[in-house]
Amino acid sequence: MPGEIVEAFSYLDNWSDPASFRLLDATFGGGGHTALLLERYPALTIVAFDRDEEALKRAPAVLGDNLSRVQLVNDSFGSVLERTEELFADSLAPDVPPFAGILADLGLSSDQLDNSERGFAFRSDGPLDMRMDRESELTAEQVLNGYNQRELVRVFATGGVGAHSAAMAKGVVAARPLQTTADLRKVCDAVWERGRRKGKRISQVVFQAVRIEVNDEVRSLESFLDGAKQLLAPGGKIAVICFHSLEDRIVAGRFRKWSKADDSASRLPMSGELPRYGAHLTARAMTAGSEENEMNPRARSAMLRIFQRGVSQREIVEKE
Ligand SMILES: C[S@@+](CC[C@H](N)C(=O)[O-])C[C@H]1O[C@@H](n2cnc3c(N)ncnc32)[C@H](O)[C@@H]1O
Repeated sequence: MPGEIVEAFSYLDNWSDPASFRLLDATFGGGGHTALLLERYPALTIVAFDRDEEALKRAPAVLGDNLSRVQLVNDSFGSVLERTEELFADSLAPDVPPFAGILADLGLSSDQLDNSERGFAFRSDGPLDMRMDRESELTAEQVLNGYNQRELVRVFATGGVGAHSAAMAKGVVAARPLQTTADLRKVCDAVWERGRRKGKRISQVVFQAVRIEVNDEVRSLESFLDGAKQLLAPGGKIAVICFHSLEDRIVAGRFRKWSKADDSASRLPMSGELPRYGAHLTARAMTAGSEENEMNPRARSAMLRIFQRGVSQREIVEKE
């Protein structure tokens, strides 16, 4: 959703503090968003995370001369707080939030999906890998062949497989050892044939559920959001693009919570109002326009949410 992202960050046109004129791109991927924002703001610098080393290796080709304005971090965005504190330990006072804006475009890049060797795509045959970070230990093969049936039910249910979770777990255990993504797809097809799940075939959701487990995606996202909140300068925005409802629920839940009055804090002088951290600007998630959906079918499931930190507590209270 490049147009929506540029629009969301257009407040940077009037950003007055040069010391925090810096963005965090938590998911560099193909570098599209970082490249776009660097082009638009010639004084902007970006800290870009990706846990997939291969994504960061492409940065010089994607960014050209603008690469000098980017610090690349090969780590999970779940470690954003610690890694950012390390990066700015010598240059920023500990209580100065370093980022004028924070962006995360969750899920997989097309490079990851298109490379069958990574094991992410349910349509092509490949190894049961699914690690975004190829140095991490847990693989899809270990989840599918090593977890007991009850743990598998939990993986499928968490990942959105719903009423078919128990049948899928039973099918996986019966089909062991699974060796390739084609083996997993066969189990999905058998369960789908029996259950006649309506709508999209079950494979897509099952692959997604296994990937969420392999990459510990729920915990990373929660830890990222908690860190991002502390790293955002007053007036800045956090924009997150999600591709499934599990992620979107977590993001919407955090943004809603941050925009509520903090009843542990003391009331604002004069007004008697309780302070708030900022405002959730997307009570309903934004979706891609029809043109983008036509060009890029993945965009159809994209949901964008935006939170803005208040410039002052009084301003936030007044805004609402
Ligand atoms: C949808 S792509 C990002 C595309 C990017 N915005 C662009 O414009 O090209 C998602 C990227 O996020 C990375 N990613 C997913 N989870 C991550 C995590 N926990 N920490 C760091 N990177 C992550 C993936 O490796 C992938 O490269």
